[in-house]
Amino acid sequence: MSLPRIAVLISGSGTNLQAIIDAVRERQFEAEICAVISNRPDVKGLERAEAVGIETRVVDHKAFTSRELFDAEMIRVIDGYAPDLVVLAGFMRILTPDFVRRYEGRMLNIHPSLLPKYRGLHTHQRALEAGDSEHGVTVHFVTEELDGGPLAIQAVVPVLNDDDEATLAKRVQAQEHIIYPLAVKWFVEGRLQMINGTACLDGQPLPAEGCQLHMDR
Ligand code: GAR
Repeated sequence: MSLPRIAVLISGSGTNLQAIIDAVRERQFEAEICAVISNRPDVKGLERAEAVGIETRVVDHKAFTSRELFDAEMIRVIDGYAPDLVVLAGFMRILTPDFVRRYEGRMLNIHPSLLPKYRGLHTHQRALEAGDSEHGVTVHFVTEELDGGPLAIQAVVPVLNDDDEATLAKRVQAQEHIIYPLAVKWFVEGRLQMINGTACLDGQPLPAEGCQLHMDR
């Protein structure tokens, strides 16, 4: 039987990619990372993939005159690998509706906040400035709304009195590397699905915040 195929899209350091590579190599679930595709050349994430023999591709967004043309080329490259799941792992591009519709229900993203709070950038700083006592990270299905699709998993961490952006980011990132491989595992095992716009686990609709995990540090 052929393994579920995962294409991972990155723009940078690829620590989430690494967590998923490690989970596959440790056989936490049965799947194949068929390609790692970056919109930036020379990023650390590409090295991580090459180090373990995963095919890499660069589709440099700077070479395209419009978002539509860039996304059309991304679709051509991604579809060449026929993935069952597209994983956005720090892929920092806004996606066109055509792109999102093509992979709807089989594309996941990770975002460093407790969505729907703090869509967009600088999430850790914004949580600190708001005086939040909790912060965290979310894995969600990608829909046309930016950082807005149905939520699969959230990890909640405390915000400590002496936190700065770096310490809070570090605490959140540690959780990213736990919940993203878990969401991918659930998806490739057929447990996590998007049904009628709702994230479902084992056929049951998840609450709006997804499966929420509370971490005490
Ligand atoms: C991660 O912290 C991820 O949550 C964030 O980019 C970082 C990528 O790190 N994603 C977003 O902000 C998406 N809106 P990585 O390249 O080391 O995995």
